[in-house]
Amino acid sequence: MSTPSPADGGRATPAFPDVDGLCYGGDYNPEQWPEDVWHEDVALMREAGVNLVSVGIFSWAMLEPREGEYDFGWLDRVIELLHANGIRVDLATPTAAPPAWFFARYPDSRVVTRDGTVLGPGSRGMAAPTSPEYRAAAVRIASKLAERYGDHPAVVMWHVHNEYGAPVGEDFSVHAQRSWRTWLRERHGSLDGLNAAWGTRFWGQVYGEWDQVGLPAASPSVVNPAQRLDFARFTDAMLRECFVAEREAIRAHSSRPVTTNFMAVICPTTDLFAWAREVDVVSNDHYLTAADPRTHVRLALAADLTRSVAGGKPWMLLEHSTSAVNWQPRNVAKRAGEEARNAFSHLGRGADAIMFFQWRASRSGAEKFHSAMVPHAGTRSRVWREVVQLGADLRAVAEVRGSRTQADVALLWDQESFWAQDLEWRPSVDAQYAERILTFYDRLWRDGVTVDLAQPSQDLSHYKLVVAPASYLLTRDAAANLTRYVEGGGTLLVSFFSGIVDEDDRVHEGGFMAPLRDALGVWVEEFLPLREHETTTVTGLAREVTGTVWADDLVVDGADVVGTYTDGPAAGQPAITRHAHGAGHGWYVSTSLDADELAPLMERVYADAGVVPSGLPEDVEVVVRSGADAEYVVAINHTQDVITLDEPQRERLAGAGPVVDLLTGDKLGDTLDLPAGGVRVLRVEAR
Ligand code: GAL
Repeated sequence: MSTPSPADGGRATPAFPDVDGLCYGGDYNPEQWPEDVWHEDVALMREAGVNLVSVGIFSWAMLEPREGEYDFGWLDRVIELLHANGIRVDLATPTAAPPAWFFARYPDSRVVTRDGTVLGPGSRGMAAPTSPEYRAAAVRIASKLAERYGDHPAVVMWHVHNEYGAPVGEDFSVHAQRSWRTWLRERHGSLDGLNAAWGTRFWGQVYGEWDQVGLPAASPSVVNPAQRLDFARFTDAMLRECFVAEREAIRAHSSRPVTTNFMAVICPTTDLFAWAREVDVVSNDHYLTAADPRTHVRLALAADLTRSVAGGKPWMLLEHSTSAVNWQPRNVAKRAGEEARNAFSHLGRGADAIMFFQWRASRSGAEKFHSAMVPHAGTRSRVWREVVQLGADLRAVAEVRGSRTQADVALLWDQESFWAQDLEWRPSVDAQYAERILTFYDRLWRDGVTVDLAQPSQDLSHYKLVVAPASYLLTRDAAANLTRYVEGGGTLLVSFFSGIVDEDDRVHEGGFMAPLRDALGVWVEEFLPLREHETTTVTGLAREVTGTVWADDLVVDGADVVGTYTDGPAAGQPAITRHAHGAGHGWYVSTSLDADELAPLMERVYADAGVVPSGLPEDVEVVVRSGADAEYVVAINHTQDVITLDEPQRERLAGAGPVVDLLTGDKLGDTLDLPAGGVRVLRVEAR
């Protein structure tokens, strides 16, 4: 698929950069090095099989040293050198790091925090997204670059900005104040509309004039949550406007695909489903959370979210790390083989590009202790050997390019619900959006069930099972969509504190969870949150399970009670219910179960949905990509022991027919060994 570009009278923009095979490489910052190092760089890139590098991400000050004065000489030479060596360029607009002259000349464009602190330069991070001077300067440098390099044969894609949403997300500058009122007028039509949506009669917040409507800055008590929710939407919209302005400037001169690197899962300021509609190709950055022993599960979630926002199309991992990062409290180095496991998990989940931050470790600056493809230790290092090996491995599996990862389970992801749920003064600080998503995801991951992340309002009918771990904000329309899904034969599992408020953070009429009453056959009379560390016991499943955080005073209205509380604030009352509705089933779980405790519940839910867990050992990760003539099974052994799959397991994984491991060329027999900490990519003729 491709999108028509206005630049060339409708010539199509490719939906993926024109690079042979899978893309492999990283951020390349040659401006930090003398030119003789560049020659060594390209020689090493060839040795590692690098075919794509992202150039110029933070180079604004070197490209436009004074306002309106440009120096493209060095970039010309870098691009020519890469081109001569067959390495393609993902050319960046450098607008995530405005030069010192910009902030000196336009001090009002500095970002202001919620408590009024003005953020100074000397770091990186864009200016105020609503600043007209920033936007004009960003569009100007993007145009200049596109004009000069838009048709260069080495430049195969555009990398706009860097990670919109961090470090700059919310901004309380004078520019934000002005744009905020304009945005609110468009959203609410009139001041009466705004007063109604925000419920401003509460605490007498009613606005009589537009210029009384302020930003939700620090205040004596809790700021109106509807105002804060709108501000989250506004922040996202303003960042997206910045992207679109640069994208259009590029499209005027170039028909190469345009992307910007997302931060799936961890960046809460951007609504990635909305962003994905604006880019030609979806790309993501991902870094491990060192403190989490199951960080590879978070990685898988990020990759699945990225594929889902891309609508299942191939996407690009634009950044991850060869080893440690430098910005966590304790930066744990990757162990031998870990980087390959990470890369192949992304690949299995749909990435057709495996790229790093960064090519060569920086000697100066804030990131000098961050790992790189060429570490400070040079090429006589484990990291370099693994980088070269990964390049070879990606060439060996290049035929997976374009194949699609399939999932028949969806986990609902709604950015607006995320924004709304995590505001202040909720029933319990322990009820967190991201925690519930990750825990349910972890359970599904352990069961070897591949999931898409899906929006509650989208067509869900092709999924066997839909799980709603945290749908606090659920519009009536979205609830009706979920209800239709159940009526049509789907299995829906809803977790506590869902279906509570509408798009303005207003409690739905009819009692908590009223919009889901038909689908679930229950509603909630009162929340019964638990004290910190308090637990509650539920019986009725294959074994007793322990909940934390939450219980409900649940009113059963047609559902069957599957689990009952035996202690805690809801002792003797229903905890887990199942409701036959139309041709499907609606399940409800009113307490917080961790990934272990979810197991007996999910067994029952899978049985209703016809979902079959992989039956493989828990720390074996398996994902399947389907191509036109073959399926590719990516199998990752996260343990430090060889795992031998017996004949039935091998058959479930890869069928009974001939199987080749693309990484080794081995033809596999009736049983299958997964090397300790290793990866296999199995080619299976389409089943
Ligand atoms: C990313 C960023 C890179 C680099 C990296 C370090 O968030 O885009 O420029 O800072 O983190 O892990």
